[in-house]
Formats: sequence, structure tokens, C-alpha cells
Amino acid sequence: MARKRITLALAKGRIFNDTLTLLEKSGISIKKIDKKSRELIFKLDELTILSCKPSDVPKYVELGAADCGIVGSDCIAESQCDIYEPLSLNFGHCKMIVAIKKNQKFEFKAGKEVKIATKYPNIASEYFKKKKMIPEIIYLNGSVELAPLIGLSDVIVDITETGETIRKNNLKIIDTVMSIAAKFIVNKRSYRTLSNEIQSLSGSIKK
Ligand code: PRP
Repeated sequence: MARKRITLALAKGRIFNDTLTLLEKSGISIKKIDKKSRELIFKLDELTILSCKPSDVPKYVELGAADCGIVGSDCIAESQCDIYEPLSLNFGHCKMIVAIKKNQKFEFKAGKEVKIATKYPNIASEYFKKKKMIPEIIYLNGSVELAPLIGLSDVIVDITETGETIRKNNLKIIDTVMSIAAKFIVNKRSYRTLSNEIQSLSGSIKK
């Protein structure tokens, strides 16, 4: 029986190059993917690739716009989407942390209000609620490290990879929320209806 073409949503940005390297190593020809192009859909021999904003990848997969995707576990956790996560990948390693100004103190005290600047409101709220604190989220789209420096927030919840941004901005890490890595995710319906195609893809990615 002929194989059906499946759609794979990829996260642009931080993990994009490593994702393409992984596909290439898995025997998928990525020649048609022009990294500099503004095109968002690439039709490869066996796959259709969607080039997406990382935080949108879980949503595309949950809604079935893509059968599967490759994205960081930070975006998966934040999205709260209903998807399968059958494979952790060996790249995109970083961590989600809580940080404050270097010269400040912070007490995790039940019942205390805390202003949090973050791109990850769900993860941050959940984390501080578990500490029985009262989170006030200041949602920012980027350069989150600025917020405590100018008095906009008490803390940040953000990802760090090399630690360079934290160091350069006189912040310090006071806790780790979670470890992060790239994951292969699958739409629940596609997992059943395209099981051969998806198993073949995940099998070649896993090798
Ligand atoms: C991420 C993150 C930190 C930075 C950490 O931002 O939000 O700002 O990288 O990386 P480091 O530990 O290696 O310094 P990104 O580069 O995605 O840009 P943004 O701040 O505009 O979101």
C-alpha cells in the first residue's frame, strides 16, 4: 500500500538548525528547505514541512494541521495541548529557571504575592502556586531579563542555555523549574490513522 504523505511542524529559531541536521541524518532530504526563505511550507519527497513559531507548534499538532512536530519541551508544557510525546531528542537542552537581581534576596513564603515577568505564564503560575504563593504575571514577549532590573517584576521565569544573558545582566538563578529538551510530538488521531508513516519517521529519527 502506498505511504501517505505526513505533515511535520518544525520550530523556527533556537533549535531549527539542529532539527534539520537530525532530519538529514535520518535520511530525509532537506535540500528544498531554504532557511533564509520567507516560505512557510516546504514539500519534500516524503513529508510536508511547516515552518512555525516555536510556541505555536503544539497547537498545530493538537489541531491536526500537522500530524507531528519537533519542538522544545518548554513550549509543550506551556501550551497545555493534548498531544502524544513519544520521543525525547538529544538536542535543545536548556533549563527553565527563576532568577532575581544579583544583589537582592527572595523568600519563597506561602501567601506572599510575587510579580513574575515571563514568556511562560502557565508554567510560572503553576510553579508559584505549588509554593502556595500568589503569582501576578507580567507577560512579555522577549528580553524578559530587563524586567527585574527596572523594577517591573520581582523575578523572572525564563529559559537559560549558556547562562550568558543572566550573567551579563547581573541576575542570579534561585531555582530550576524544569529541564528542557527537544521532543517529537504527534497528533492523537494521526497516531492511529497514520501509524505506519509515523512509526517509520520516528524510527528513523531515533536511530
Ligand atoms: C532566550 C531566553 C533568554 C536567553 C537565554 O531568549 O529568553 O533571554 O535566550 O540564553 P543564554 O542563557 O544562552 O544567554 P531568546 O534568545 O530566545 O530571545 P528573546 O529574549 O527575545 O526571547
